[in-house]
Amino acid sequence: MSEAGITFEALAAGAPTDALAAMTFPIYRPLLSLAPTSRHPEQGDPRRIQPLAVVARAGGELLGLALGEQPLAGGPPPELLSLFVRPEVRQHGIGAALVGAFEEELVRRGFTEVAAVYTAGKPAIAAVERIFAGRNWEAPRPRTLSVRFPPARALESDLFSPRRMRALGAGLDLFPWESAERQELEEIRASHERQPWITPALAPWRFEGADFDPISSIGARYRGAIVGWVLNHRVDERTVRFTCSFMRKDISRRGRIVPLYHESLRRLAAAGVPRATFITPVVYPNMIRFIERWIAPIAEFSGETRGVRKRLAAAADAADRP
Ligand SMILES: CC(C)(COP(=O)(O)OP(=O)(O)OC[C@H]1O[C@@H](n2cnc3c(N)ncnc32)[C@H](O)[C@@H]1OP(=O)(O)O)[C@@H](O)C(=O)NCCC(=O)NCCS
Repeated sequence: MSEAGITFEALAAGAPTDALAAMTFPIYRPLLSLAPTSRHPEQGDPRRIQPLAVVARAGGELLGLALGEQPLAGGPPPELLSLFVRPEVRQHGIGAALVGAFEEELVRRGFTEVAAVYTAGKPAIAAVERIFAGRNWEAPRPRTLSVRFPPARALESDLFSPRRMRALGAGLDLFPWESAERQELEEIRASHERQPWITPALAPWRFEGADFDPISSIGARYRGAIVGWVLNHRVDERTVRFTCSFMRKDISRRGRIVPLYHESLRRLAAAGVPRATFITPVVYPNMIRFIERWIAPIAEFSGETRGVRKRLAAAADAADRP
């Protein structure tokens, strides 16, 4: 594809990627090597994917990047993960053309659908949503609520008052998750297999093989057995993400998980980690209410993530019609 001397092409494996690294988020930079990988093992998603990068160039100069992934073995549709156009050439249709070229490349590779998830609340999102609407993607749907906040500030919240922590923590033995015995972990899995008690998406074994954050990942025992966990991951040097929080149902009533958050945040603050993020699917309304009530007021940033999709085969048919 070419527009006024601009070309849009899939990046070839082995091509230099230095200049492209600054055009996507640190977490996605490894994808620029185009080597097949598991994208989110730390979120319990070990799916194998093939990265796909489409670049915009003019006279050998890089103008923009659309970076995404395609599944290697069935599963969810390919996803566009990040879109970037150099500031001095924005508002000339390059962003829209990059998305178009990304779609075309997927059609060429035999895919019939494409999806994307993005965080609303950032300045560029108006442009991104116009691009999707202009290219006939389905209307965006809310997926998660995401908040970013300083751990030290969160500790000042009434939620964590010493009196409340004593009451809610009674009978719970909190421990760093890294000190959990292998045998204990096997026992919770075996007991779940005998009689399910763990929300599948929040089972700790889903996150095995991904390095959880040893400072702030906390477990709780009750009467000698592990009943809850808060498992976190490093996003970058300054940021830890709360990935997976669970407490056995008979114990979780009335916020018995809160002392685990408290211990986790206390350790983050003591270690000088300046940022924590929480990303909660909208399908967990209790958690959304908890975040809106207690975390959103002290958040530096809070935004919804939205999901969008497009059926590519239908779009290709439409384009073929006279
Ligand atoms: C988002 C981005 C890729 C858009 O690139 P672009 O080349 O300027 O996009 P286009 O020129 O194709 O513009 C697409 C549409 O958005 C509109 N638009 C562009 N900038 C806009 C802005 N700041 N506010 C509102 N609308 C805007 C354009 O008018 C156009 O709409 P139209 O076709 O209905 O007129 C670019 O702004 C960017 O790189 N931002 C920083 C990175 C980022 O945040 N990416 C998104 C998250 S991954």
